[in-house]
Amino acid sequence: MQFADEGAQQAFGVRLGACLQAGDIVALSGPLGAGKTVLARGMLRGAGHAGEVPSPTFTLVQPYEGPGMRLPVWHSDLYRLGDAEEILPLALDDVLEDGALIVEWPERGGTLLPGPALKLTLDGTGDAVRILTAQVPESWERRWARL
Ligand SMILES: Nc1ncnc2c1ncn2[C@@H]1O[C@H](COP(=O)(O)OP(=O)(O)OP(=O)(O)O)[C@@H](O)[C@H]1O
Ligand SMILES: [Mg+2]
Repeated sequence: MQFADEGAQQAFGVRLGACLQAGDIVALSGPLGAGKTVLARGMLRGAGHAGEVPSPTFTLVQPYEGPGMRLPVWHSDLYRLGDAEEILPLALDDVLEDGALIVEWPERGGTLLPGPALKLTLDGTGDAVRILTAQVPESWERRWARL
């Protein structure tokens, strides 16, 4: 799949966010500036969030649980994780019982990231067209086919 511009990419995120379910983990990979946060922003909007979505690079995880949300969604960015074990105090699996988790730079969490995830990888930076590839777990197969 490819996105001609940022708007198209965010719109795809909105569709993804509209079908998020409790227990989902969406892992967003790709180089700096590929558009992972753009996709996450769309997903949060699709899940009902109306406000801003700052990049959680420094906070590491940002919960969205406000009244408009269809379900709680946590947005995490592990880029600044020094060591995979630093993921443990973030308690990222706490949201999964009734909500969903979106993770940028999932590789930084190594095997300590909860799973299985819908693994999305974006390629392309700057003015380039973005290419998205997906590894779709069983829990997503039907939803992915309908996107
Ligand atoms: N499909 C696209 N087409 C053109 N520009 C895009 C597209 N997606 C994102 N961008 C632009 O690329 C820049 C980086 O986007 P974004 O912050 O979402 O990247 P990121 O992958 O989250 O980066 P980081 O690894 O730093 O978190 C932004 O200026 C954004 O406007
Ligand atoms: Mg980002």
